[in-house]
Amino acid sequence: MSNSSVTMDKLVALCKARGIIFPGSEIYGGMGNTWDYGPVGVEIKNNIKRAWWKRFVQESENSYGVDAAILMNPRVWEASGHTTSFTDPKMDCKKCKTRHRADNLIEAHSKGAVNPDLMSNEEMQAYIQEHQVHCPVCGGFDWTPIRTFNLMFETSRGVTDESQNKIYLRPETAQGEFVNFLNVQRTTRAKIPFGIAQIGKAFRNEITPGNFIFRTIEFEQMEHQWFCKAGTDEAFYREYKQKAMQFLLDLGFKAEHLRFHDHDKLAHYAKEACDIQYLYPMGWQELNGIHNRTDYDLSRHQEYSGKGLQYVDPVDGSRFIPYVIEYSIGADRLMLAVLSEAYEEQTLEGGDVRNVLHFHPAIAAYKAAILPLQKNLAPKARQVWNNLKRRFPVIYDEAGSIGKRYRRQDEIGTPYCITIDFETMENDTVTIRDRDTMEQVRLDEEGIVSFLLEKIAF
Ligand code: GAP
Repeated sequence: MSNSSVTMDKLVALCKARGIIFPGSEIYGGMGNTWDYGPVGVEIKNNIKRAWWKRFVQESENSYGVDAAILMNPRVWEASGHTTSFTDPKMDCKKCKTRHRADNLIEAHSKGAVNPDLMSNEEMQAYIQEHQVHCPVCGGFDWTPIRTFNLMFETSRGVTDESQNKIYLRPETAQGEFVNFLNVQRTTRAKIPFGIAQIGKAFRNEITPGNFIFRTIEFEQMEHQWFCKAGTDEAFYREYKQKAMQFLLDLGFKAEHLRFHDHDKLAHYAKEACDIQYLYPMGWQELNGIHNRTDYDLSRHQEYSGKGLQYVDPVDGSRFIPYVIEYSIGADRLMLAVLSEAYEEQTLEGGDVRNVLHFHPAIAAYKAAILPLQKNLAPKARQVWNNLKRRFPVIYDEAGSIGKRYRRQDEIGTPYCITIDFETMENDTVTIRDRDTMEQVRLDEEGIVSFLLEKIAF
């Protein structure tokens, strides 16, 4: 287990109860593998994206951001290989009509001992027959042959039938970075090596069960492409593995909950590839990927677009297509890891249990909650809230006993509770309670500002 008390069911229940994540289209009975972020969840996810952007764009020398269109010229997906190769091997159970991925069936049946990534469709089919792999839903053994299934969502553009054109919802954000390589390089006058990053929605017609927000059909990616000269690529690949790991450690992940997983089978364009896996409640799973993509992407876009995408070295005048080191992480998958890592069910003295999300204050939806000890202290508490809310996301709560209000804030991970009590009326000091230790200190208003500024820095 990633931590001693977390299970997926407990996380899903807490997220729903506390406005972090709701099932998608719930009043219509939901829609598989879709989830909606609630008032608290949207803040947490925005903070995760902000922390990533700060680290990999704003603080990263020679890295630049873009926000490319989701709908791209369909030729992009021919060039990238997605129209032909972005497929899963699917099988249908003829008995209960459920759809499954053959590779997942083999992995589950062999308890991870067999790596289906190294098998062809024929080999997977033979394994399933030989080992009598039954349907995990109904227990039947009546499979259709394996067929490859493209994961891209198609839509069409135009108002009349004649003008209709098949287009796709992007299955990754990376291509928006590749097609803007020259635009960014020319407008920033960046010299190789430099990076282009993007955060945005991607869509995949996933047929596998989702495990909450781990695998969804609509999700956000945070991707960074580092363009470099061939020969320097291997060193940069190693550097990005470390940078990706350091980012997670700085967010507060325990080192023993993370591991590198080098790929045995490489995509035809990749020279080196690995994941960082996290110990989720359902076991070790990919959290992010780092790939040495060589010059494949820009070469293919040069070929398919007919536009020269070579970089001209200002020192020696040489022309070349840069290599790319890609670092890619799902914002939702990182959110699930952050929630799993942060969750604790703590038994207090006296036997009471409190649920706490112990995440980094930079990630918390609210940096502090402002709580009047009693209703008659509300005007003063509102004054403190008004002063603080211009500087920090803070929340005001006067409903219920102080103990219940502390618990509500613990459950959404608010790192500090600022209580306005009778002493506040006398000397303008307040108490600040720490979410993790539950210890309290007294500070004046100026003291609160510098205290919070220091604690939320990432
Ligand atoms: N451009 C490379 C690329 O898209 P990927 O391994 O397919 O590579 C990168 O995806 C990351 O995006 C994954 O490591 C994961 O964090 C996230 N991701 C991929 N598919 C996802 C899905 N269906 N739901 C949520 N996150 C997903």
